[in-house]
Order: sequence, then structure tokens, then C-alpha cells
Amino acid sequence: MNYMKLFIIISMIVGFVSFAASCSKSGLDEDIPVFENPNSGNSQDTAMYVSKYGKGLVYYAEVDKAGNYFRRMFIDSASARIVSTTGTLPAEALLVLETWFGNDQSTVYIRQKKENEWHSNSFSPSNPVYQVGLTASCNSCHATASVTDDAFTFPLLKKALARGAVQKITCNQASFTPCDLSVYEGN
Ligand code: HEC
Repeated sequence: MNYMKLFIIISMIVGFVSFAASCSKSGLDEDIPVFENPNSGNSQDTAMYVSKYGKGLVYYAEVDKAGNYFRRMFIDSASARIVSTTGTLPAEALLVLETWFGNDQSTVYIRQKKENEWHSNSFSPSNPVYQVGLTASCNSCHATASVTDDAFTFPLLKKALARGAVQKITCNQASFTPCDLSVYEGN
């Protein structure tokens, strides 16, 4: 009888723990739908589809700049799906730029398309903020890339989605300084 009680108690504990674990896992999956790339089949691919800063994002490019500095680019997964079918950046497309000094991450910059204009903001990695506004200083430099919808790395995004792999390039200039637009065509 005692063994029976012990068995029941242990079964209940095991049952509860596995139920709780499955709840939290499926909760996460539901909150952040992650776009599955139809062009996948590449093992590198798994690293492209990430949940970061409270969103499902597609990591599409790394740009190595002068010194110990590099930048990583992401797009929200819903817009990635539209880009891969239409080849254009849709309204509300959200582009996210991480800045890194070696292993140390610094400010995150974002640009979001609103009524055919790009709105901007920045935040610290631990405290994402998605409110955006018109910022002339961001827009004037990004206008250099007007042939690619004011998004320097848009050609790399299209290649990443078509190939199912993050595109890596080098632009040997200081942090914000652009390279020749041909560099952003990638390899
Ligand atoms: C002096 C030029 C310049 C200014 C000013 C600038 N950027 Fe950029 N930005 C770039 C360049 C160049 C890239 C492409 C990567 C690289 O080579 O650094 C880029 C890339 C980005 C990207 C990734 C999408 C893309 O266009 O490739 C985001 C997001 C971004 N910048 C946000 C911002 C925000 C927000 C501001 C204003 C606070 C800003 N940028 C100001 C030059 C600039």
C-alpha cells in the first residue's frame, strides 16, 4: 500500500513537471511566430531565424567595419516572408542593426517603413523600444542608398533569403561611414 502511494505521488510530480515544461515551451512558440524559409535545407539556416528583443527576426547580414567593429542586420520575420515573394520591402518593414566591438554589444538601431518614409530609433540591447520617429540625420545618410529603398544592405537581404544563409561582407570604413554601394551587393 505504501509503495502504491509513493508510486502515485511520484507519477503526479513527474506528470506536473513535464506538463509545466510543455506549457512554457509552446507559449514561447506561439508568442513569436518564426518565419520558415522555403529555401532552407542549409544547416546554417537555423541561426538565421531567431527570437530577439521580443520579436521573431531573420538575421541576414554581417558587415565587418574598420577596427574591431562589426554590425549585424535583422528584419522582422513577416516582412522577410514578403521580401522573399515580392522582392520589395513592404510597409511596416522593420530593420534592426546590432553594433558590436569584439564580444561587446553596443547600441541597437532600428528603422521602420511608415507610409513610404523610414522612421528611426535606437535602444540598448537589454531594453528594446519600438517607437520610431522621423530622424533627419539618419535619413540624409541613408538617402545615399536610394536605389535600394534607402536600405544599404537590402541586396544582402535578398541574397540571404534566396540562399538560406547569412551574408557576410567587409566594408573597411569607420562605424557609420558607407562603402561604395557595389560593396553591399555582396558576393
Ligand atoms: C553617415 C551615414 C549613416 C548615418 C548617419 C546612419 N546610418 Fe544607418 N547605415 C549606414 C550604413 C553605411 C549602413 C550599412 C552597413 C555599414 O556599412 O555600416 C547602415 C545600416 C543601417 C541599418 C540596417 C539596414 C540598412 O540600411 O542596411 C539600420 C537599421 C540603420 N543603419 C539604422 C540607422 C539609424 C536608426 C540611424 C540614425 C540614428 C542611422 N542608421 C544613421 C550609414 C548611416
